[in-house]
Amino acid sequence: MSKIKLRARALEEIWAEKGSETFDSRNYANLHKARRQYLAESIVNTNPTSVLEIGCFGGHNLEEIHEMNPDIKLTGFDINKDALHFLNKTKSHLKINTVCGSAYELKDHFSDKQFDVVFTSGVLIHIPCGTLDSDFPEKYTVYGDRGKQDLFLQDISLVEDVCKSILAISQNYIFHGEHHGEKFENIKGTQQRYIHNFHDLYKEESVVIEKAFNASNGFEHLIKVTCR
Ligand SMILES: C[S@@+](CC[C@H](N)C(=O)[O-])C[C@H]1O[C@@H](n2cnc3c(N)ncnc32)[C@H](O)[C@@H]1O
Repeated sequence: MSKIKLRARALEEIWAEKGSETFDSRNYANLHKARRQYLAESIVNTNPTSVLEIGCFGGHNLEEIHEMNPDIKLTGFDINKDALHFLNKTKSHLKINTVCGSAYELKDHFSDKQFDVVFTSGVLIHIPCGTLDSDFPEKYTVYGDRGKQDLFLQDISLVEDVCKSILAISQNYIFHGEHHGEKFENIKGTQQRYIHNFHDLYKEESVVIEKAFNASNGFEHLIKVTCR
């Protein structure tokens, strides 16, 4: 396995080990309430029958979708099995199908065009990215249950592979509520920049920016991709 993939796995491990208090916290569910609702509304407006969230955590976004249209068949995918356990325990009435696995192996879990809509929110920002340029820090700081950790990431765009797989399993639309910015910004007290450029990643498709959120929330753009 290449070094960058090892680093990506190290990041996954941090997410996989997050304790239930993280996704249990009321604060987390309400933290991005307006964004969650806007995202859910945008998805429900496309009239899907099936929706997959990659990196669903405790299922807070899926719950918003269910509240707007309980007929939509929902699937939540995450690397953290405790998060899915929490989701199943606390939201069993939503009848969400849960699948535990890695975003790097989506095609092992899902078939081509399986979902009308596939979306992520605050997940792709955790995938190693970047081209080496002078002002991009090699260090990426992650706050996990084990405290602050620095992982060194550079010179690779694993996110391209992930987005290709997302495109393969999506029938109609993809939504990404992810932070993207060319400049460094102060997010939660540290200078951060997320350089994944979704327009370029989906250049064969039609991509629009639905809404730009306040970057101080840690998220900036909600983009909508219409699959051809
Ligand atoms: C910041 S949380 C976002 C949760 C949720 N999407 C939301 O908006 O509240 C990131 C989620 O992505 C999951 N995740 C991170 N890397 C992943 C990977 N490589 N494969 C699958 N899930 C991953 C984490 O376990 C976590 O649940």
